[in-house]
Amino acid sequence: MAIYLDHAATTPMVPAALSAYVSALGVVGNPSSIHSQGQQAKRMLEESREVVAESLGADPVEVVFTSGGTESINLAIKGLFWHRQGRAGGVRSAAEARAGVASAGGANLSDVGPVAPSALRRPRVLVPGGEHHATNDAVEWLAQYEGAQIEWLPVDALGRLTPEVLEAALAGGSGGDVQGGGEHAEASATREAKAGHPLPAGAATADDVALVSFLWANNEVGTIQPVAELAAVAARYGVPVHVDAVSAYGYLPIDFHEIGVAALSVSAHKIGGPVGVGALLLARTAEVVPLIHGGGQQRGRSGTQDVAGAVAFAAAAQNAIETMPSFVAELSVLRDRLIASIRSAVPTAVLRGDPAPDARLAGNAHFTFAGCEGDSLLFLLDVAGFSVSTGSACQAGVPEVSHVLTAMGVPELEARGALRFTLGHGTTAAEVDALVAAMPAAVARASKAGFADRAVA
Ligand SMILES: Cc1ncc(COP(=O)(O)O)c(C=O)c1O
Repeated sequence: MAIYLDHAATTPMVPAALSAYVSALGVVGNPSSIHSQGQQAKRMLEESREVVAESLGADPVEVVFTSGGTESINLAIKGLFWHRQGRAGGVRSAAEARAGVASAGGANLSDVGPVAPSALRRPRVLVPGGEHHATNDAVEWLAQYEGAQIEWLPVDALGRLTPEVLEAALAGGSGGDVQGGGEHAEASATREAKAGHPLPAGAATADDVALVSFLWANNEVGTIQPVAELAAVAARYGVPVHVDAVSAYGYLPIDFHEIGVAALSVSAHKIGGPVGVGALLLARTAEVVPLIHGGGQQRGRSGTQDVAGAVAFAAAAQNAIETMPSFVAELSVLRDRLIASIRSAVPTAVLRGDPAPDARLAGNAHFTFAGCEGDSLLFLLDVAGFSVSTGSACQAGVPEVSHVLTAMGVPELEARGALRFTLGHGTTAAEVDALVAAMPAAVARASKAGFADRAVA
């Protein structure tokens, strides 16, 4: 049986969630139906919403169940972006806003092209480097088709967005890379001159920023963001914030009301619930333009609700909240044992992310191994009976250098040697020791194999 050290990708369902899931799957009834079976399903759904809300310091009305983290993030980013343009209120019609349309009245389908940034009230979207692909791809789509102008905010060498960098971007220019919307890129270049000179509180407006989105904790290198400080900076400028808390949920206490952001995404399968269920927390005052239209079953999302998924999600959430203090304490000990033993077994290994134990996710140990291809290590360890990850995506089997590591300033050649170990429910000290014992041989073989493509500088 392989030793599973890839809990950040997905973690096994906890027994309470699995049994709740199986029994809820046997219940018939659409929660929108009026009859008693429908109402029973609705009760199960709403009780689950209450549990999930409580686990995150939110109200039930703020919980929108979704198909997972990716959908939640897309709904938050696109939905907030569209709403901030006044599109829901019809300030400009979509046809009028699209480039190539001479007049709104004369628009027909063949005229419809990308939205011109100049048509938008708030084209700017602020995103740090090193976010999850669900965020990156959603904002890039907005830049390509909807006139968004993305400002990639620089993160530090540990992968952290500092409040100062966010403040500078909101005050008038990030100094980061700007993507999308030609004329606005020029406007931003002017703003960049002001970077580092934040406006005094009260004078700030950041009127052209649609939203800010950032991770609560980085899913690759485990670094925890100063979420409360970042949220406070954005609040001073009146800019809505979305937080991707998918990798933090179950590992860190999350209080939605306390941080006071507009939206926050979580996913059930990262905390021992099923794959295919998640939630977007949407503050009472926040509004999104929906991605999915239909029966209007939830705020911002249509579609018959997945009662069994919600029940299992709630069981996992309950378990996560009840066990978090001991779970995190035990996991941190195992993680620190893993980090220390890898460093002594493979002295050339470099720990990435924040080395301070309280500043990285409890189950995360992320290294780069000089002179090795992360994928070679992954395959060698797989054959030896260990499931681990490079942390970054593969495109049709072609390894992709981690955009998280490059955002942190790690040279590409070093970034190629990345390997992420993530511990979770059921991980034992014996498993950690077995992995460490297997590492020197795997590293020796992988460095002999070297790089598939030596052209990289
Ligand atoms: C930080 C982060 N955000 C978003 C997601 C996407 O969540 P899901 O798999 O539920 O779509 C993941 C999953 O790996 C993640 O780690």
